[in-house]
Amino acid sequence: MRVLVTGSAGFIGSQIVEALVAHGHEPVPYDVRADPASDVRDADAVRHALTGVDAVCHQAAMVGLGVDFADAPEYVSHNDLGTAVLLAAMAAAGVRRLVLAGSMVVYGEGRYTCARHGTVRPGPRAVADLDAGRFEPPCPVCGADLSPGLVGEDAPVDPRNVYATTKLTQEHLAASWARATGGSAVALRYHNVYGPGMPRDTPYAGVASFFRSALARGEAPRVFEDGGQRRDFVHVRDVAAANVAALEADSRGGALTSYNTGSGEPHTVGEMAHALAGAHGGPEPVVTGEYRLGDVRHITADSARLRAELGWKAAVGFAEGMREFAGAGMRGA
Ligand SMILES: NC(=O)c1ccc[n+]([C@@H]2O[C@H](COP(=O)([O-])OP(=O)(O)OC[C@H]3O[C@@H](n4cnc5c(N)ncnc54)[C@H](O)[C@@H]3O)[C@@H](O)[C@H]2O)c1
Ligand SMILES: [Zn+2]
Repeated sequence: MRVLVTGSAGFIGSQIVEALVAHGHEPVPYDVRADPASDVRDADAVRHALTGVDAVCHQAAMVGLGVDFADAPEYVSHNDLGTAVLLAAMAAAGVRRLVLAGSMVVYGEGRYTCARHGTVRPGPRAVADLDAGRFEPPCPVCGADLSPGLVGEDAPVDPRNVYATTKLTQEHLAASWARATGGSAVALRYHNVYGPGMPRDTPYAGVASFFRSALARGEAPRVFEDGGQRRDFVHVRDVAAANVAALEADSRGGALTSYNTGSGEPHTVGEMAHALAGAHGGPEPVVTGEYRLGDVRHITADSARLRAELGWKAAVGFAEGMREFAGAGMRGA
């Protein structure tokens, strides 16, 4: 299969290119940071790149949380205008297969259970609670403690920042394209992706890369809140394999199917800091009680649908992946 990979110079896109080659496919790289630079918002360049292409794997995006709201037009431009230009060119060229990099951020705070009220969806946490070290969101009805659960694909979406909004809009655009053209679209909603090649020390980098950079400087990783935030850390090679599986699958035409893409093994941010510090030989993490307004407390996916329907399974375990990551190089200076 000849596959146009947008965002091919990125952390995840570059691993997808490698995985496609390993599976006997022919990736066509496409990225503003590649040589020659190719922008997904450039209709002529996209049309040219689609020649002879069987499928598109769309990873190009402006990522991270952004600095402030002034970034909104740039996010919408790269992520949503870019996706619209790409889909329009695919429609015209008769390319009918799309795999899109989605994100868990579309779910917001995720799923919780109250002993009295069942499944509830807490709103954003209050500053007064966070300042007082009350990090767990209370039941919105009775204020009781909640237990966090796994988010399924059918959970209501609740994007809480501009980036999350643009990731959700990409899915809506892909669904509209699929309905209009009869094409098949798959969105892989990635969890926290980590591994070699992860960008370091940008305002948008993931928490794993901040910890790794601190350790490399001989400093203790600084863990926010009380370290009990639950996430699902999924290795970049597993994410690349999920993309190959989705591209090769016999997926439904005329619709978008979304799949949570996580390891299926939730861990806390504190556990991750300890695993990295242990693998690096110290120093041990410090828990600071600091917080970032807008961070969600727990967000962990149920990736059973991806395992059942696409036959994919995470191959890199937490301890093994963190050991490798602690010793691996990262991109950027
Ligand atoms: N890293 C994660 O944990 C994570 C989690 C959820 C979703 N995602 C999604 O995965 C995808 C890849 O993310 P990543 O972590 O590899 O980030 P990255 O920044 O390393 O890669 C993104 C690439 O897209 C390119 N790009 C941006 N705008 C472009 C444009 N207009 N035209 C062409 N290329 C453009 C960039 O140059 C970059 O190389 C993104 O869609 C992101 O939203 C990532
Ligand atoms: Zn309650």
